[in-house]
Amino acid sequence: MLILYINVVFFGAVPFNNPIPTKSLNMDINRRNFLRKTAAASAGIGLATVIPSGVWAARVAPSDRINIAVIGCRNFGFKILRDHLDNEDTRCVAMCDVDEGVLNERAETIRKEYNQQPTLYSDFRKMLEQSDIDAVIIGTPDHWHCLNMVYCLQAGKDVYIEKPLANTIGECNIMVSAADRYNQIVQVGQQQRSNRAFRESIGLVRNGSLGKLRKVKIWGNFNYGLGTPFRDDEPVPEGVDYNMWLGPAPERPFNRSRFHGSWRHYWDYGGGLMSDWGVHLIDMGLWVNDLIDAPEEVMTFATNNSGQQRQRETFDTMTVVYPKKDYVISWEMTAGIQSGPWGKSYGVAFICDNGTVITDRHGYRVIPEWDGGTQSHKADATEISGIREAHPYHVRNFLDCIKSREKPVCPPSTARAAAIHVHVPNIAARTGESLLVWDDVNSRFTNSDKANELVTPSYRAPWKLPEITR
Ligand SMILES: NC(=O)c1ccc[n+]([C@@H]2O[C@H](COP(=O)([O-])OP(=O)(O)OC[C@H]3O[C@@H](n4cnc5c(N)ncnc54)[C@H](O)[C@@H]3O)[C@@H](O)[C@H]2O)c1
Repeated sequence: MLILYINVVFFGAVPFNNPIPTKSLNMDINRRNFLRKTAAASAGIGLATVIPSGVWAARVAPSDRINIAVIGCRNFGFKILRDHLDNEDTRCVAMCDVDEGVLNERAETIRKEYNQQPTLYSDFRKMLEQSDIDAVIIGTPDHWHCLNMVYCLQAGKDVYIEKPLANTIGECNIMVSAADRYNQIVQVGQQQRSNRAFRESIGLVRNGSLGKLRKVKIWGNFNYGLGTPFRDDEPVPEGVDYNMWLGPAPERPFNRSRFHGSWRHYWDYGGGLMSDWGVHLIDMGLWVNDLIDAPEEVMTFATNNSGQQRQRETFDTMTVVYPKKDYVISWEMTAGIQSGPWGKSYGVAFICDNGTVITDRHGYRVIPEWDGGTQSHKADATEISGIREAHPYHVRNFLDCIKSREKPVCPPSTARAAAIHVHVPNIAARTGESLLVWDDVNSRFTNSDKANELVTPSYRAPWKLPEITR
């Protein structure tokens, strides 16, 4: 068997519309990291008056600098903020969170490590009045995405919004309309579209060397999908504006199992493992054939059979089948399990006539089919490993698009397709419908009234579902 180990610095010449900057980007990122460390170290030894305040301005003309703000600072919003600030042409000018403790701690890190002094807010609407903000990172729980994004666009800001685009199909549709109407740059945080492993393996499928694509088998197994241990309701912690955390979601007593991080396991705010990881991975099953359409038919089997008693509403075990025109996509998830096919807890297998490409965020492997007639493999066995996570590239693509005003690699219309592919099975699971047929033109299921009730959320007053008029 011929095995080709391709050097990790090779970057496959895959004909995608938006090539990922590679070498120069790595150098920029490393240099910025160096500068950041230098600034922090200098501040620590009393050189603060020599280096700070002008350190970035000296290198990037103010007119070229992109002023960044963030809404939702605890986990991923903050990680993505750092990925922005690792670029020389950015500066953090504002941060917003409804948890004062989180906000102050994260702002302190920005001050120490980047020597920047963002203005702090607890209400994002107030923050959006700050006129020097160019772009906003949205790192709030999914139930806030639609309102956060529409307000940002209406305030004339470009947006990097975390995935999934929104927590319901109806909100996704509004967000696509808003992005068209307000004509700002919007990048959705489905960063696997900027990941070299996925770009190259999809390139192998697209260039035909593996023969016809038959099936995309996708899986995601993680312990955290089971939710948290049971907790009692408790008083709202000091410094938390819980009413603003709930926002458009129904009023509930405060409970930590529904709060920071673990909100993912409750329908009011998220969609469990199905939407959390599913949206990234199923996106690859669509991208391989350049599909940006909603699914027409979805078959879902969902159950809770882990045996571990945890606090959550979302399902722990799901198998979903999406028939496409000439191939099929399948999704399997088993929360509470950390292993999976080919020894991977998550992955995508592109199954083609001449071979299967098994891909995760760090590499891919081609397993060729055997030709009994010629006694040879039908494709080269290739293995690539050591690929880095793609967030910095995805962020750089956003920053470049802010300057060029071109479409980024994952605009809302693309992200909407992946989001609907995860919301439909969740709606099926919640309503007990094993087959749902979706009519995307009329935005409704043709075969279930129960399912139609879950297409668009009812917002808690005073919040109103945005109406986008031309
Ligand atoms: N792209 C990825 O790989 C990836 C990975 C993890 C999370 N995410 C996404 O990032 C988003 C955030 O997830 P997380 O894990 O960081 O959640 P988290 O609960 O850790 O953080 C959310 C933060 O938002 C704050 N917040 C809530 N409502 C707010 C409001 N109205 N105004 C300001 N702040 C508000 C919370 O106080 C909290 O600090 C989710 O959409 C999630 O799906 C993406």
